Amino acid sequence: MKHLLKLSDLSGDEIINILNLADQLKYEVKHGISHKKLKGKTLAMIFTKSSTRTRVSFETGMYQLGGNALFLSDKDLQIGRGEPIKDTARVLSRYVDGIMIRTFKQSDVEDLAKYGTVPVINGLTDYCHPCQVLADLMTIREYKGTFKGLKLCFIGDGNNMANSLIVGCIKLGIEVSIACPKEYMPDAETVKWGYEQGKLTITQDPLEAANGADAVYTDVWASMGQESEAIERQKVFKNYQVNDSLMAKAKPDAIVLHCLPAHRGEEITDEVFEKHADEIFDEAENRLHAQKAVMVTLMA
Ligand code: CP
Ligand code: NVA
Repeated sequence: MKHLLKLSDLSGDEIINILNLADQLKYEVKHGISHKKLKGKTLAMIFTKSSTRTRVSFETGMYQLGGNALFLSDKDLQIGRGEPIKDTARVLSRYVDGIMIRTFKQSDVEDLAKYGTVPVINGLTDYCHPCQVLADLMTIREYKGTFKGLKLCFIGDGNNMANSLIVGCIKLGIEVSIACPKEYMPDAETVKWGYEQGKLTITQDPLEAANGADAVYTDVWASMGQESEAIERQKVFKNYQVNDSLMAKAKPDAIVLHCLPAHRGEEITDEVFEKHADEIFDEAENRLHAQKAVMVTLMA
């Protein structure tokens, strides 16, 4: 494994290896065991979109591993003034040991990897969010002890989260059920792959998707870059909410996951969110441990 551009590039075993290392690093950091596996290394972090979790977890993770992280906003970089990604890739590769990028186009992430000579990590694109799903899978295993026989449902927009959840869950044998309006389906190729490779259902009925689920997942109705569609989306998605009636369809011990940030009263009610806050904030914490595992795997 040279990069983390999207989960479909990884085998199930590679995902499991990252999760196992993440568990180990989490144990070590909680027990005060020093693990400076990236001493003297630098990660460049390019952000073309906002972030709380991704920025802070990568930066802190790099620090805990003995390395250094550089926050680079596109507003300050020459990328913002039109310098091509392929030149940025070749320049940064002369200075740093890895590049994390959060941006719009998946092709920009792929180009960074193509033209650079250091590992590239996708910190979210419009197409996918692999780091988030590694943390999600880690959290699911912590709560359920296994991936075997589990069902995850995703309620809402067929967006970057839905795409990565389909791939990550199916690679580990988790059944996936997505409920979304028909104009807001996940990526067509990813859906086709999911149908062929595992147990995937796509429905417009949130209650059907939630039926018997072990994990209930949701995300914002309007993602970053779709702010101008927010009002229209509030109408289209109004029935795609994780609330008490939806939770009544899931297994009684179902966990609730949300990549965050959350819009209470839209994709999730405040009641359900607060009832499952421990799971949701464990999930957020696991971004740190999962990404440290990714960085050690790629950069050590
Ligand atoms: N879930 C997630 O990626 O959060 P941020 O947008 O805060 O990084
Ligand atoms: N779908 C959301 C995820 C945020 C972590 C977005 O792209 O804005």
